Amino acid sequence: MPEAPFSVPRNNSGPLFADTGLKLGLFGINVTSAGGVTAFPDRHEIGWEQNLRLVRLAEDAGFEAVIPYSRWRGFEGRTNPWGSSFEPYTWAAALAARTSRITVFTTSHCLTVPPVMAAKQIATIDAVSQGRVGLNVVAGWFEKELRMFGVETLDHDARYGYSEEWLDIVLRLWGEPEDFDYHGRWLTMNGGYSSPKPVQAPHPPLMNAAFSPRGHQLAARYADIAFVATTDLTATGKKVRQIQELAAGHGRELSVWVTGSVVCADTDGEARRLAERYATVDADEDAVRNALDWTMGGAHLAPDQRAELKRSVAATMGGYPLIGSSSTIAAQLADLAAAGVDGVALTWMNYETGLPRFIAEVLPALELAGVRRPLGPSLATA
Ligand SMILES: Cc1cc2nc3c(=O)[nH]c(=O)nc-3n(C[C@H](O)[C@H](O)[C@H](O)COP(=O)(O)O)c2cc1C
Repeated sequence: MPEAPFSVPRNNSGPLFADTGLKLGLFGINVTSAGGVTAFPDRHEIGWEQNLRLVRLAEDAGFEAVIPYSRWRGFEGRTNPWGSSFEPYTWAAALAARTSRITVFTTSHCLTVPPVMAAKQIATIDAVSQGRVGLNVVAGWFEKELRMFGVETLDHDARYGYSEEWLDIVLRLWGEPEDFDYHGRWLTMNGGYSSPKPVQAPHPPLMNAAFSPRGHQLAARYADIAFVATTDLTATGKKVRQIQELAAGHGRELSVWVTGSVVCADTDGEARRLAERYATVDADEDAVRNALDWTMGGAHLAPDQRAELKRSVAATMGGYPLIGSSSTIAAQLADLAAAGVDGVALTWMNYETGLPRFIAEVLPALELAGVRRPLGPSLATA
């Protein structure tokens, strides 16, 4: 085993970490059916001009971040959700060139990208964006796609050991002016070197998306943001506290973000009926089963847990359910903020209709309630 990692300095600069209340991210727009595994006719399809339009809309409304999925194949079934996707590094680079304020994340599977390549690509996007790139690191969990890379997929905890070494190397490539050698359990590097260094100091913000305690240990040691998925408020508050305690154990602080899936309608009842439709009549049952079995260890779940997860994956892709009228959704977001959540990365079944409505109706309510305190012009008074 390599020595314990050097202490990773926190990147607490910039709008992602400013004292402005609940942060918002636009999540998953680079993959098809990002909002849920359903055959609902109005589900998300991808196109570059459409992605750019959505990001600019979010940026103009004050969203702090846009975060892609890293996905290489879909879950098949009749709609093959996530089957079509834009590659997250090149996508982030293009967005960096066409935006001016929003933090553009890339999402990287550690196993599929050599750390030298990742460090350089991020430094390049940081130069293009003038210091607005972020890196969301995922250990990966979908063997069928990882096998396409011809890499040894490793078991769950070994993937995290590998990812930590990967991060050690990336951080040293960004931070160290001199060549260095690295000899880990999984990764070896002789004469490591990278230039230019990123614009952001001490480094671009690091996010880690994971469900498990092992994943949260990695986040506690390395990440500026732990990105988690929860489906109820009590569990969310508990998870935030657990992760922050883990980080405090390493003498660090970090933000916690959750995924939130918006299903908005004129009334709460109408929104609930829509979510119910996604989860039942429209659900792509085969694709839901594949998503569960291929990534979430579905075969080992108790029947009631499996049924619950099936509904959640079909209707909201496992994200925190933000289901209701605009005012109900604003109240649900306020609850998440009160539970200690620092940011919510949002998905919709259809972003092109959902995002403008959210900006027009939910954002002003959040600002009026003081849940978000924008640095720029307020939507609440517009
Ligand atoms: C919010 C969130 C977003 C994720 N995004 C991705 C992704 O884009 N691509 C991917 O392969 N895995 C993604 N994952 C899964 C991670 O790869 C993670 O390694 C997987 O959940 C298995 O590890 P775990 O048991 O620690 O969760 C995501 C997980 C969460 C919680």
